[in-house]
Amino acid sequence: MSKTVLLYFIAAVAATGGLLFGFDTGVINVALPFIKQEWQLTETAESWAVSAVLMGAMAGSLLSVQLADRLGRKRINILASLVFVLGSAITAIAPSPEWLIGGRLLLGLAIGVVSFSVPMYIAEIAPSEIRGRLVTFFQLAITIGILVSYMCGYAFADSENGWRLMFGAGFVPAALLLVGMFMVPESPRWLVSKGRTDEALVVLNRIHETDKARIELAEISRTVEDQKTSKTDWRELFSSRLRIPLLIGIGIFFIQQFSGINAVIYYSTKIFGMAGFGSGNTAIMATIGVGVVNTLSTLVAVRFLDQWGRKPLLYTGLIGTAVSLATISFAFYFKDSLGVDLLRVLSVGGVYVYIFFFAISLGPLGWLLISEVYPLRIRGFATSLGSFYHWFFDFWVSFTFPLLAATSLGTNGGIFMIYTGVVLVGLLFAKYIVFETKGLSLEDIEKKWARD
Ligand code: BGC
Repeated sequence: MSKTVLLYFIAAVAATGGLLFGFDTGVINVALPFIKQEWQLTETAESWAVSAVLMGAMAGSLLSVQLADRLGRKRINILASLVFVLGSAITAIAPSPEWLIGGRLLLGLAIGVVSFSVPMYIAEIAPSEIRGRLVTFFQLAITIGILVSYMCGYAFADSENGWRLMFGAGFVPAALLLVGMFMVPESPRWLVSKGRTDEALVVLNRIHETDKARIELAEISRTVEDQKTSKTDWRELFSSRLRIPLLIGIGIFFIQQFSGINAVIYYSTKIFGMAGFGSGNTAIMATIGVGVVNTLSTLVAVRFLDQWGRKPLLYTGLIGTAVSLATISFAFYFKDSLGVDLLRVLSVGGVYVYIFFFAISLGPLGWLLISEVYPLRIRGFATSLGSFYHWFFDFWVSFTFPLLAATSLGTNGGIFMIYTGVVLVGLLFAKYIVFETKGLSLEDIEKKWARD
């Protein structure tokens, strides 16, 4: 296998973790209407079925720093894939809602782990020239996972035990990740940090030209040495010097999640049902449309983030999401005078336009910015904290959505007005807190936070 092919193979195997993140969070959208029908779930049980994954992911993201350091990047991903296999099996055969929620909790644990360990593994193994693009590649894998889950929803909607097959389908990428992880090398950076320099050189020789491998090894060794001598203290993250990166890491996920993205990703069949589509195949077809727009628009971000810069895309995305969210809100508010047809056009159209603008901005930028803004010495801890907040905010939005949707805030569209308000605050956040990282090396960014 040539070196380039090997690199792409490694990235593809690791990205399967992103695909599972997308699949297992998205599948609930299409499975939920069938589960509700079978078990007559209350709104609260519905919220738990969706949000158990997010609670698991919160725990997983906090556990992952220690585990990734102790076990290594390969073994932590192997462990996560085993948990994915188990979680898929339990949710597919769950005899009661409690079992389903337990299985979803397990899946969440694995998602929390991979949302930290996969981008880190890719970044550590990729040559610096393509490192940035590969982080957005992770987001692309998430959106593909969401799309595949919706397609499974469509494929199995008419089958007996359809929702069980939908959950069971997650077994396939989980098994692929498991087998694939045995075939890829350990991260050279982790090997060096454990004193296994000879093994690190073997890996580097497999992915770089011989001269480059030695240079890379010397660089890694230097950074690892620096880290050892400068005694990392996680409390440093809360010092006033690092206030801006801390605010960026938490703020970007606050805006991303409270813009209501997962009200759409997890509940679009329900939203389309509220707009008069019923919960059957038409609502699922419209939901597949969400998945397609999401994936295709992420390709736009992959293409232009480095060329146009982060901030122009962020501004464009925020303005577009605010306008489309307000449109959805107005459509529900005036539904009686609009009539069913116009309500459908405005709400479904509004959701598609919203997804487009989200996918070119807040979607990839969340994961990209947290991988860029922190100094190396506390990057591991800071990234896992950012990822924890992502799941924490996601939990609150997703847990409250069906509860609020059942009140007048849902029927009169007020809930989308709240999301619009958050996005408008996001514009201030983009202007005053976020800074442009396009074209800067991670070392340049790090200099901004250097001690005086
Ligand atoms: C977010 C997820 C969201 C997905 C939608 C990701 O960046 O982290 O919460 O479901 O984008 O594509």
